[in-house]
Amino acid sequence: GRTLTFLRWPETIDDHGAWRYEEDGALLMKEGRIIAAGSYAEVEAKAGETVKKIDHRPHLLLPGLIDAHVHFPQMQVIASYGAELLDWLNNYTFPEETKFLNTQHSRRIARLFLDEMIRHGTTTVAAYCSVHKESAEAFFAESHDRNMLNIAGKVMMDRNAPEGLRDTPQSSYDDSKALIAQWHGTGRQHYAITPRFAITSTPAQMEMAQALVTEFPDLHVQTHLSENHDEIAYSCELYPQARDYTDIYARYGLLGQRTLLGHSIHLSEREADVLSETGSVVVFCPTSNLFLGSGLFDYQRYRAREKPLRIAAATDVGGGTNYSMLRTMDEGYKVIALQGKKLNPFQSFWQMTQGNAQALSVTERVGTLEEGSEADIVVLDSRATSVMGLRMESINSLAEELFLLQTLGDDRAVREVYIAGKPAKSILGV
Ligand code: GUN
Ligand code: FE
Repeated sequence: GRTLTFLRWPETIDDHGAWRYEEDGALLMKEGRIIAAGSYAEVEAKAGETVKKIDHRPHLLLPGLIDAHVHFPQMQVIASYGAELLDWLNNYTFPEETKFLNTQHSRRIARLFLDEMIRHGTTTVAAYCSVHKESAEAFFAESHDRNMLNIAGKVMMDRNAPEGLRDTPQSSYDDSKALIAQWHGTGRQHYAITPRFAITSTPAQMEMAQALVTEFPDLHVQTHLSENHDEIAYSCELYPQARDYTDIYARYGLLGQRTLLGHSIHLSEREADVLSETGSVVVFCPTSNLFLGSGLFDYQRYRAREKPLRIAAATDVGGGTNYSMLRTMDEGYKVIALQGKKLNPFQSFWQMTQGNAQALSVTERVGTLEEGSEADIVVLDSRATSVMGLRMESINSLAEELFLLQTLGDDRAVREVYIAGKPAKSILGV
């Protein structure tokens, strides 16, 4: 098939050095890795006679898509009508998450969630579980069964949430630590220290999160930042010593290169400077930011400022309204357009693959089709629907084709997914 992989951020649609595209390309996979990539002729010469060949022509092979912020216990929250963030959490999300104390329920939803991710072409996620240890155990068990490279953590939350959805500083520390021991580095599983956000953690719990970061400096940290004006005001009220919302996390040593900050929409210049200096990652969640009326993330300003921010992109299901990274970046394009700017299709596809891999610090392993990387691959069909096929009749560049895939594509455009070299979508039978 045709293969496309990114080497760096594409400045323009003519910045050919930013990606590698093979019109007649091939990938040779062995033991879960890509061991040769290039033109079909080159790869065929390296492959032995006995190699099994799978022909994906005329489809497009890309690194598996990456979703940098998503809540697996919110599958039954998606499409909840009529609320902004804090009411949405209290009225819909928190009641739903209380169900994840139950192991059977957690297993069922984790199974359905990961299958849905695969169906949509996403091979790696950074996921929030519920407050319950059981939910994280279920997520990791299902992720490990699928051999997916996923990052996840039990949410730490000890206040401003209903009974049954609160831990304590000590139990959040103990449960996180037990989960780290059991799952971090088991197969392809990674643990993320996950204080939900400042509103739901007491200072005592933030100290516990800080203790975990100190003990396990290689782990990711994920939380929410500056999503909604009421949320910002309440957070600052709860932490009066902090200069601003970002400073709350800074004071507990929670910023850094492995820190993922969902939303980060309404940042002051001072906050953005701190995030840049610490190498923290801000996560663009366009469908969620639109759905909850949270605001417009200024992607191009964050990128181009003197102290640039590292940016990831994500669905944020169930605040987000679609599991597809294609649908997500379509909405992202519109959010950027509303601010008088553009994100070109190479930049979008860079973001969904290499860009998110950089943001999650997993570029050595995924987000690329380079030789030696782990074989997480998505196969996209630009003619998946009649509407797409008709539009393709008048398209004659790769840039236009990618933009069509993003603008009209969804799970139907995902023909196949490989996880560590094994077909994963076609075996689902859905
Ligand atoms: N802030 C704290 N928790 C959440 C959540 O579950 N979703 C979103 N969108 N924002 C949050
Ligand atoms: Fe979120």
